[in-house]
Amino acid sequence: MSFAPFDWIDAEARNRAAAGLVRTLRPRGAGPEPLDLASNDYLGLTRHPEVTAAAGAAAHRWGAGATGSRLVTGSTALHAELERELAAFCGFEAALVLSSGYAANLAALTALTGRGSLIVSDAGNHASIVDGCRLSRAGTAVVPHADADAFEKALREHGGRALAVTDSVFSVDGDAAPLTALAEVCRAANAALLVDDAHGLGVLGEGGRGALAAAGLAGHGGVVATLTLSKSLGSQGGAVLGPARVIDHLVNTARTFIFDTGLAPAAAGGALGALGILRREPERAARAREVATALFTRLTAAGLSAVRPDAAVVSVRAPSADAAVRWAADCRAAGTAVGCFRPPSVPDGVSRLRLTARADLTEEQITTAVATVLATAPRQADAPVR
Ligand SMILES: Cc1ncc(COP(=O)(O)O)c(C=O)c1O
Repeated sequence: MSFAPFDWIDAEARNRAAAGLVRTLRPRGAGPEPLDLASNDYLGLTRHPEVTAAAGAAAHRWGAGATGSRLVTGSTALHAELERELAAFCGFEAALVLSSGYAANLAALTALTGRGSLIVSDAGNHASIVDGCRLSRAGTAVVPHADADAFEKALREHGGRALAVTDSVFSVDGDAAPLTALAEVCRAANAALLVDDAHGLGVLGEGGRGALAAAGLAGHGGVVATLTLSKSLGSQGGAVLGPARVIDHLVNTARTFIFDTGLAPAAAGGALGALGILRREPERAARAREVATALFTRLTAAGLSAVRPDAAVVSVRAPSADAAVRWAADCRAAGTAVGCFRPPSVPDGVSRLRLTARADLTEEQITTAVATVLATAPRQADAPVR
C-alpha cells in the first residue's frame, strides 16, 4: 500500500525555494547579539538585571508554569497585580493578561463580535488580527491601509453591531494609524474601536503609556486595547485593556483565556519589573523615538528608501526577497543584526529590512549600524533601492 500523505509538502517547498522565500531557524547563543537592531526589545529591558531578577523571583514563588487555566487552578496575586498595573499605567479601567499578544487579539475579536456583527479591519493589520477576524464568525470588511473614510463607509453600509480594528503602529512599515479619526468614525457609527498597541506601548505617549494615551482615547467606554508584553516590556505574554464590563465578558467568553494555561509567573514577574523601570525612567520612550528618527534620517539621506517612523520600527525597502535575505545576512556577518520581512509577512509583496530603534543604543552604535546597512546595501544595478 502506498502511503505518502505529505508528498505535496515537497512541491510546496520547491515553489518556496524558487521564489526565494525559504525560512530557516538560525541558532542563537545565550549572550546578547553584538549589535541588535532585529529584536523587539525597544527599551533594552529584556536583559535588565531588575527584569530578570523579577522573572526569577516570580518563578521561585509561584512555580515555572501557571499550572492551568486561571479559571481552574486559581488566579494568583501576581496576575492581579500585573493587571492592575497595566490598566493604571495605560489609563484603562481594567485589564486581563493572557499567554501571548496573539491570544489577546483572538480573545478580544472573538468575544466582542460574532455572527451577524461586522469587523472592519485595516489591510495592514497583524496576522493575529487577521486570524481573530477569521475565528470570530463575524463578517469582515478589509479596508485600505490607514484610511478612516473607508472605515466610515464600511460601518455606514452595515448599520448594525460593529467593531473597527487596527494596529496602533503597523509592524511592517512602522507607520501609525489615524486613531483620532477612527475614534470619531466609530463614535458616529456607535461601533467599538479595538486597537492593537503592541508597538505603541513603551514608545508612544507620555512615558510610554501607549498610542491610546497619546491620542486621549485611553479609558474611553467604546475603546479596547490589546498589548503584548514581549516587546517594550522585554517579557512574554499579552493583555486586553478596556472597561471593566468588557474584561468581565472576556473572562466568561474568550476561548483563548478560558481554554489556555494562564500567563507563566516568570513572564508576569518580568513584565511587572519592566513596568516599574518604565515608570521610574520615562525618558526611555522618547529615546526610542529619537533613535528611530536618527536611523531614518541618516539612511534616507544616503539614498535608501524608508518609511518615516512613527514609533521605534524603521522599515527600509529592499529590491526583492532574495536581496533582502542577502542584505540582512551581510549585515549580520558585519556584526549588526537586522530583521528581514518578506512575503507572506508583508501585505504589499515588497520585502524590507526592519530595524529596531532600541532606546539603549549609543550614538556610536547608531553610527556603526547605519554604516553597515549602507555598506551592504544592494548595488544600483540590482534594483532601485538607492
Ligand atoms: C502588532 C502585533 N500584534 C500582536 C503580536 C503578537 O504578540 P505576541 O508575540 O505576544 O504573541 C505582534 C507580535 O509579533 C505584533 O507585532
